[in-house]
Amino acid sequence: MALNSKRLEGRVALVTGASSGLGRRFAQVLAREGAKVVLLARRQDRLEEVLASITSLGGSGMAAPCDVTREEQVIAAFDLAQERFGVVDTVINNAGMNAEGGPLDQSRDAFASVMDVNVTSVFMVAREAARRLIAAGPEVSERGRIINIASIGARKALAGVPAYCASKAAVVMLTRSLAREWARHGVNVNSLSPGYISTEINSDWLNTPAGQKMIGATSRRRIMAEDSLDEALLFLSSDGARFVTGTDVVVDDGQTL
Ligand SMILES: NC(=O)c1ccc[n+]([C@@H]2O[C@H](COP(=O)([O-])OP(=O)(O)OC[C@H]3O[C@@H](n4cnc5c(N)ncnc54)[C@H](OP(=O)(O)O)[C@@H]3O)[C@@H](O)[C@H]2O)c1
Repeated sequence: MALNSKRLEGRVALVTGASSGLGRRFAQVLAREGAKVVLLARRQDRLEEVLASITSLGGSGMAAPCDVTREEQVIAAFDLAQERFGVVDTVINNAGMNAEGGPLDQSRDAFASVMDVNVTSVFMVAREAARRLIAAGPEVSERGRIINIASIGARKALAGVPAYCASKAAVVMLTRSLAREWARHGVNVNSLSPGYISTEINSDWLNTPAGQKMIGATSRRRIMAEDSLDEALLFLSSDGARFVTGTDVVVDDGQTL
């Protein structure tokens, strides 16, 4: 990616799950547009690699190792980010997981851990961001952009993953509710629901006969490219989205048609 236009100059963007897949890409795209990026995930070595890819292109950021299910680690990551770059005004709540096993075999703990990472942590990270934005006053809070990564699974019952689908439907409604709560402060909260893109979360399955059959059944018989969410992400992060809040933006290449 070349460094050219800078649509997010002056912004401080925190991306959870930045050590791989979509989060890695989101962090690179935000940095390319001038945002200072704060990279959160548990695997520090992977975060350092992503950070190096950003700084090698002239971007700026920091790695903050963090398990997003641990409240004290989330608060500490926001503290570090604020100390280094100022108040975080853009959050990409991207960390997510799927559970092993079909619903008949799934334990209560397995179900709960999906909800913990995919829903409770999204709430905790959004709350931490909003507290700080609102405390900083309207000039800062009006730049607030919280983007929660949901999924087509919020709307479509994807085979074999009820916990995942339930968690993503919860993210869409949590987004709408938080958007309403924080609207008068200018903090916009939206969700982005991608269709299938090959990453660590699904690449093994996509290569199975069942995965190939699913791809063959989509309208365009394909999964999406790595860059397919870039523009939607940038729009929702930008000043141009100041009148957009409580919305779920579906970018799925027609996979759910
Ligand atoms: N790929 C798709 O087709 C697709 C489609 C729709 C929605 N999504 C959503 O997009 C998001 C990113 O998924 P992906 O496809 O990029 O999958 P991925 O490559 O498996 O990335 C998941 C990320 O979440 C992080 N993570 C998981 N648990 C965490 C925890 N407790 N604390 C901190 N970070 C944690 C992982 O980092 P560490 O392991 O280093 O902590 C990793 O960076 C997820 O919310 C997923 O549901 C993906």
